[in-house]
Amino acid sequence: MKVLTVFGTRPEAIKMAPIVLELNRREGVESYVAVTGQHRQMLDQVLEIFKIKPDYDLNIFQPGQSLTDITVRSLRGLEEILSELKPDVLLVQGDTTTVFAGSLSAFYHGVKIGHVEAGLRSHNLYSPFPEEANRKLTGVLSNYHFAPTQSNKDNLLKEGYPEENIYITGNTVIDALAYTKREEYIFEDEILNQLDFENKKVILLTCHRRENLGAPMERIFQGVRDIVEQNEDVEVVFPVHLNPKVREIAEKIFGDCNRVHRIEPLDYLPFSNLIMRSHIIVTDSGGIQEEAPYFGKPVLVVREETERWEGVEAGTARLLGTSYEKVVEDLDELLHNEEAYKEMAHAINPYGDGKSAQRIVDIVVENHRESGKNEE
Ligand code: UD1
Ligand code: UDP
Repeated sequence: MKVLTVFGTRPEAIKMAPIVLELNRREGVESYVAVTGQHRQMLDQVLEIFKIKPDYDLNIFQPGQSLTDITVRSLRGLEEILSELKPDVLLVQGDTTTVFAGSLSAFYHGVKIGHVEAGLRSHNLYSPFPEEANRKLTGVLSNYHFAPTQSNKDNLLKEGYPEENIYITGNTVIDALAYTKREEYIFEDEILNQLDFENKKVILLTCHRRENLGAPMERIFQGVRDIVEQNEDVEVVFPVHLNPKVREIAEKIFGDCNRVHRIEPLDYLPFSNLIMRSHIIVTDSGGIQEEAPYFGKPVLVVREETERWEGVEAGTARLLGTSYEKVVEDLDELLHNEEAYKEMAHAINPYGDGKSAQRIVDIVVENHRESGKNEE
């Protein structure tokens, strides 16, 4: 059977990599990878770590690209690939614009679609934007829904999807972490190597969501900045997303703050090892909300909504919103109240057991075999 895996951004690459590696190992499976190149540098960083060489690269990236640019350029490029390759199944992951364009393209070509990380819902179509819409639109077009958790499956059942098409598989991000985490690790970045993770409290910050651009991001950064100024033992590491709008706000608020270390986006290997060594994580990222609990790191989610309640319910994540006051209040509490810190700092792993990729590939292969039998 021919399986085409399509992805375009950093988080999709991280979560698809374990599936691609698993597909490559299977006898009887021809595995192909098409990247849209929605991200360029941030995607290539991940491809290198997992040693994945795409068979097709649409290279659609343009600085300042609009959602329409990404959608149209991906659809156009995928049309050619799908007509030529005629895969049996196309796999997409998550909720980016590449995912939506990939699934729509497969639908147009009559190719079966497997949606990895299906069923996540914030229940607000406008936040995260446009991701909540992308994941719902992809769900409608998909034949196999690979839900990481029971509550993701429940979301799909409530929307009327047939139970036999939904599989609880765990999240492949945990498979990816198993590949990259190291007990001993030396960073290439000198700033990171010189940080005293034992005696300083290192806060790891990431922020990039579209709905946070502008005033919310300024409030979040101002809160972090004031905390740094009030606490001499705090250092912040901020790998800044390549979006120029994020960079501008980071420069405006942190420009003269020498204990906020703004660095380039890190490769996944150092980044996952940085999570493991940090004291607290402040983030609006989806993937990092899943990774931090795995390492037992308290995660403060600077968003108005989340589709990842498992960490919040287990007490390792808090959904802060984006007000300046909440950022200052919660960071202050975690830095000074040992009990509060300990309550959050326990490892839980509701998102996967490291075998998700294997499960997903088993299901895809088995369904193909069954459909072959039915056709005979
Ligand atoms: C995209 C996804 C988002 C995901 C995020 C992961 C959509 C609509 N959004 O958002 O769900 O959380 O990726 O990071 O699909 N840029 C570069 N080089 C890169 C990547 C980005 O320069 O390698 C800059 C460009 O100026 C680009 C901007 O970042 O225009 C935004 O990139 P884009 O892919 O449009 O959206 P993200 O905010 O990265
Ligand atoms: N990540 C990385 N380097 C960085 C920041 C994040 O490798 O400098 C990884 C992180 O571990 C996670 C993924 O990128 O697996 C999350 O990507 P992002 O926050 O861009 O997207 P989201 O998950 O919010 O869609």
